[in-house]
Amino acid sequence: MGMATSSAVSMQAWTCEKIFNAAHTPVSAGCLTAGADPKRNTSTMTMHVIPRTIVKAAAFIAALAPLALLAWNFQQGALGANPLSDITKETGIWTLRFIVLTLIVTPFRRLTGITEAARYRRMLGLFAFFYGTLHFTTYLWFDKFFDVHDILLDISKRPFITVGVASFVLLIPLALTSTKKMISRMGGKRWNLLHRLVYVAAAGGAVHYLWLVKVVARPQILYALAIASLLGYRAVGAVVRARKQPPAH
Ligand code: HEM
Repeated sequence: MGMATSSAVSMQAWTCEKIFNAAHTPVSAGCLTAGADPKRNTSTMTMHVIPRTIVKAAAFIAALAPLALLAWNFQQGALGANPLSDITKETGIWTLRFIVLTLIVTPFRRLTGITEAARYRRMLGLFAFFYGTLHFTTYLWFDKFFDVHDILLDISKRPFITVGVASFVLLIPLALTSTKKMISRMGGKRWNLLHRLVYVAAAGGAVHYLWLVKVVARPQILYALAIASLLGYRAVGAVVRARKQPPAH
């Protein structure tokens, strides 16, 4: 999930990871340099300086830190007067942050040549889904007490809830198809197409955040601008690639 890729390079990154893991040796030169500037080959440097498993474990722990901190503050009674509102807000903002981080991977990889970054996209996307699930569950459980009628009424009456639910629903197929097995079963083309849903979910997340506040302030504007830029980057890339393609006969 969140690994919306529009290039063969991305698929190659997945495949290369497979090769790397299977062989327990650094990936072949072909994989390492995919999409990268061979002169800089920063991927190789990263890989040799710190073992990938350690970087991945550190990234995993770092991604869980906001939840640990939230649980700690809750347990210590250090949250505000309405702790459930704080939990909803905190899990919501982390969902959005992980969506943004997932979208940053591809431009970061292209601009820096660090192809290694692509290996963290799935983890980031799954963490967006994880925090989104916690966010939605907090709402369903502590706000609505699983009252289906009340939930449906809220979804139909409050536009920011409608957009939030739609965005979260879009993340579900992405999480379900995030495994390597699903990528090979679906085929790269179809998988990439499906995973473009993350763009819609990201835009929905930004709208949800803008819509839920009475007065739009700097955080809402910054997230909306970040998401608009990241989607704009893809749109421009798609137009440029389409122009480069020879016309079909
Ligand atoms: C991809 C999906 C979603 C994203 C990215 C997201 C993001 C956010 C963000 C950024 C906030 C504000 C946090 C803050 O004020 O610091 C928020 C608040 C909130 N969200 Fe979501 N959300 C999503 C889905 C949902 C869903 C599915 C629901 C429930 C149906 C929901 C209900 C709420 C509620 C009730 C608040 C608190 C509003 C308030 O009282 O201030 N969100 N969300």
